[in-house]
Amino acid sequence: MKRELDEPLWREEVSFRQAEERYVGRRQFGRFLMLTSAAMFAGNVWIWLRSGARKLAQLPRRVIGRAGGIPVGGVALFNYPGPNDPCLLIRRGGDDYVAFQQKCTHLSCAVVYSPQRDRLECPCHQGYFSADTGAVLQGPPPRPLPRIRLQREGATLIADGFEPPPGELP
Ligand code: FES
Repeated sequence: MKRELDEPLWREEVSFRQAEERYVGRRQFGRFLMLTSAAMFAGNVWIWLRSGARKLAQLPRRVIGRAGGIPVGGVALFNYPGPNDPCLLIRRGGDDYVAFQQKCTHLSCAVVYSPQRDRLECPCHQGYFSADTGAVLQGPPPRPLPRIRLQREGATLIADGFEPPPGELP
């Protein structure tokens, strides 16, 4: 294209149809929607497969303590099922042991056991959980605290999976 002599050089390099370039055609927009939808679909499938695989994976069976090893109202810390999953073993009564994951289901603060109120308390936003089932008693946590299934062999306490959340059938 021949340049007009009185026209500045920048006009050649910068598109003078900028206003039109901002226009997104129907086909372009449709392609964008299709790609976005496909990416979201693939992401959901990936999340679904991951959660399914985790559910199917065999949870370890691990010795976590000895009956009588902690006083009534006392707590022992352990990790389950992985080394970065902190949990609490609580002795609520003479022979009454329960275990829960320690991460609050709201924003993952560490919950503590209150023997006076017999409940698990999250200090971050006053979320309270039942020490019996892990159900939410008060506050913003959206889900119950995962309760660990305990087995007993003599005096040995063993973690071997999770109890179904309160209100769900096993
Ligand atoms: S992090 Fe536990 S209530 Fe918010």
